[in-house]
Amino acid sequence: MKVIVCKDYAEMSAKAADIVAAQVTLKPNCVLGLATGSTPEGMYACLVKKYEAGELDFSAVRSVNLDEYYPITPDNDQSYRYFMNYHLFDHVNIDKANTNVPDGQAKDGAAEGARYEALIASLGGIDLQILGIGQNGHIGFNEPGEKLYPYTHLTDLTPSTIKANSRFFASEDDVPKQALSMGMGSILNARKIVIMASGAAKHDAIVKMLSGVMTTQTPATFLACHADVTLICDEAAYNG
Ligand code: GLP
Repeated sequence: MKVIVCKDYAEMSAKAADIVAAQVTLKPNCVLGLATGSTPEGMYACLVKKYEAGELDFSAVRSVNLDEYYPITPDNDQSYRYFMNYHLFDHVNIDKANTNVPDGQAKDGAAEGARYEALIASLGGIDLQILGIGQNGHIGFNEPGEKLYPYTHLTDLTPSTIKANSRFFASEDDVPKQALSMGMGSILNARKIVIMASGAAKHDAIVKMLSGVMTTQTPATFLACHADVTLICDEAAYNG
């Protein structure tokens, strides 16, 4: 894994945005795998600035998001569909019809997982996957446990993730207890992966991810299997 340590959140965001911009420039109809959470917010802001400066054209870009709470409606301001519109899609010339987020209103979680996998395949796979990392080492919503799942699936959130994500909700009780998430295979099939981490709370997860030992108890450790992964983090995440 290639590691880029930045001095702070702003530098991390700018570096990650540079990589996304390079991908869009090299292949204007690329498939971007996008992530939510507080970590990539600054990266999206940098991408919007580049678009406004006339440096980027998203008109042919396709996107697939990693995950979505379940159940949730797209107009809920905590849904990941809402997040993507708010932070990126509403501000650039991407065609919203070409943007995809797992359907938090799907009646059947398993069927939605199968639909989403077929969709990724029909797009020709993911060119660049952006990831954040949970404090417990989750990626997407692939949570630590005895088992990991290869493809998009409905999953239970762990108490630690519900607690960590409750900061965005009115109360911990309001956090959905389940999510639809790409699986480990959906992520590892991406041609290139960038994983971002900011702040000391992510230090333990980063240390485990870079340890070279793979365990389902820290899903991010499976990124060691992939030939083209770049960690972009700030000093606080790297040094603790
Ligand atoms: C959520 C998302 C992950 C994200 C993680 C970290 O649980 N499902 O994709 O990486 O939280 O979030 P944050 O960037 O806010 O720390």
